[in-house]
Amino acid sequence: MSMAPVIAIDGPSGVGKGTVTQALARELGWHRLDSGALYRAVALAAVSRNVALDDEQALVDVAATLDVVFDEHEAGRERIVLDGEEVTTRIRQERTGDAASKVAVWPGVRRALVERQHEFRQPPGLIADGRDMGTVIFPDANLKIFLTASPDARAQRRHGQLAEQGRHAILADLCLEIEGRDRRDQTRAVAPLVPAEDAVTIDTTQLSPDAVMAEVHGLLKARGLR
Ligand code: C5P
Repeated sequence: MSMAPVIAIDGPSGVGKGTVTQALARELGWHRLDSGALYRAVALAAVSRNVALDDEQALVDVAATLDVVFDEHEAGRERIVLDGEEVTTRIRQERTGDAASKVAVWPGVRRALVERQHEFRQPPGLIADGRDMGTVIFPDANLKIFLTASPDARAQRRHGQLAEQGRHAILADLCLEIEGRDRRDQTRAVAPLVPAEDAVTIDTTQLSPDAVMAEVHGLLKARGLR
C-alpha cells in the first residue's frame, strides 16, 4: 500500500461528511473515496442481479465483481457508472441508502471491499469518508474527524436538500429512517459506527457549513497538513 497521507471523515448519514470531503479534496487537490457509494453500488447491483439482501455469499460475489466507476471530472461533478449504466441519481436515493446499510452488515461484503478502498490511497493524498475509515480501513490516517449532529438536524438538512431538487419528503419519515439506519450501523457486529479513539469529534448540530470548515481547517493546520 502506498503511504500517501489520509484524512478520514466518519459519522452517520446526513451529517455533512460529503460536503466537507468534497471541499477538502478540491482545496488540497487530493483524491476522494466515498466509501458509502461502494456499499450503495453493491446494493444496486444486488437488486439488479436479483440477489436477496440477506444472502451473504451471493452478496460477497456481487461485491467482489463490482464494476463501478467514479468519474470525478465531469463538469466538476461526480458521475457514477455501475455495470455500464449511469446511476448517479439513483445511488443517492433514500431507499438505496437503506439497502446499502443492509448489505453493509455482512462481514464478507465488508472484507470484499477492503482492497478496493485501499487502492484509493494515492499521492498526493486521500480524503476518505464513511463509517469505518478511521477505525478499520485507514487506522493510520494522519487526521481522523468524526462528525455528529442530532437526528432532527440531519433530517432537516436532508429535507432541505430534497426540496432543492424539487422533491417533497415528510420530515417525520426522514427522521425515523435516519434513526433506523443509525441503529443498524451502530449495532452491527463488524465495523460498527463508532469514533476512532484518536478521532476529533465535531458536533455540527448548531454549526453552519462555513463554521464546520473553519474547525476542520484549524485541525489541518495543527497537523501540518496545510
Ligand atoms: O454514507 P452513505 O449514506 O452513502 O452510506 C450508506 C450506508 O453504507 C450506510 O448507512 C452504512 O450502512 C454503509 N456504510 C458502511 N461503511 C462505510 C460507508 C457506508 O457500512 N464506510
